Amino acid sequence: MTGATGGVGRLVVDELLALGADDVRALTVNPAEAGLPAGVEVVRGFLGRPSTMPSALAGMDRMYLAPVIETNAEVCRMAAAAGVRRIVDMAGAKGDHWQAIEDGVEACGVPYVHLEPGEFMTNATLWAAQIRAGDVVRDGYGSAANAPIAVEDIAAVAARCLLEDGHEGHSYALTGPESLTRRERVLQLGAALGRELTYVDLPHDELVRELAAPMGEYAAWYAAGLRILAEHPQRAVGTVAQLTGRPAVTFAAWARQHADLFKP
Ligand SMILES: NC(=O)c1ccc[n+]([C@@H]2O[C@H](COP(=O)([O-])OP(=O)(O)OC[C@H]3O[C@@H](n4cnc5c(N)ncnc54)[C@H](OP(=O)(O)O)[C@@H]3O)[C@@H](O)[C@H]2O)c1
Repeated sequence: MTGATGGVGRLVVDELLALGADDVRALTVNPAEAGLPAGVEVVRGFLGRPSTMPSALAGMDRMYLAPVIETNAEVCRMAAAAGVRRIVDMAGAKGDHWQAIEDGVEACGVPYVHLEPGEFMTNATLWAAQIRAGDVVRDGYGSAANAPIAVEDIAAVAARCLLEDGHEGHSYALTGPESLTRRERVLQLGAALGRELTYVDLPHDELVRELAAPMGEYAAWYAAGLRILAEHPQRAVGTVAQLTGRPAVTFAAWARQHADLFKP
């Protein structure tokens, strides 16, 4: 397990244990601080520094691969050399920013499963500071619609792809259960909080300035993606339900579960 303390990877660890795995090894730069569950073998290392990886990879059969683009190809080659027989990588839609992850995995020759989530529901925390401060959310491309996914669902799929046979060679596009506009998501957050939020649609340049605080150098890239979504909404796909046997988490449910993130 790489990324084992990350937003997705930590939940993959929990899913693996819940599904009965008793031989999970988790990678972290700081084992003492990792807070991983009992029964998990915790090893020191970081995907971004391949020199730390050989001992972590020794004896591993399957690997969950978190996306660290800069060193990905090298780490995949090391995994192949160490005898890893399946890589389940978590990147993004084909052809996007994370394509290099899938390319590196395929180049190393290890059988793979590609997980291709779209936007995470946790990205709604972009609005958290504004919602904590008042009832107005200044955003942009309010009509841009996509089907964000809960990280819990990505983790549930990842764990099954690690433990079950029959997934190798597949690429799984993963979304939440419904396509929602940004405006609808803000209104659903308001409902979860028992508040009436007002969505303000900013022009493009102003949106990029607004996003710069939480997103830094990715603000322009993210806003450009929203412009495309406003014209070409993303539809939901049923992969999570098909692979896990239960419905994917709705945004409304996610908002209720995580309402504290938006409370003053
Ligand atoms: N938000 C979206 O909509 C979206 C969509 C598709 C894909 N993605 C990508 O999905 C990934 C998911 O993130 P995640 O939260 O599950 O985390 P992750 O990238 O899978 O793993 C993060 C973990 O890597 C380890 N790490 C150690 N040193 C690090 C460093 N210098 N920089 C970064 N990580 C370091 C940390 O663990 P230790 O400190 O324990 O070593 C950290 O918990 C992100 O790369 C994101 O860009 C996001």
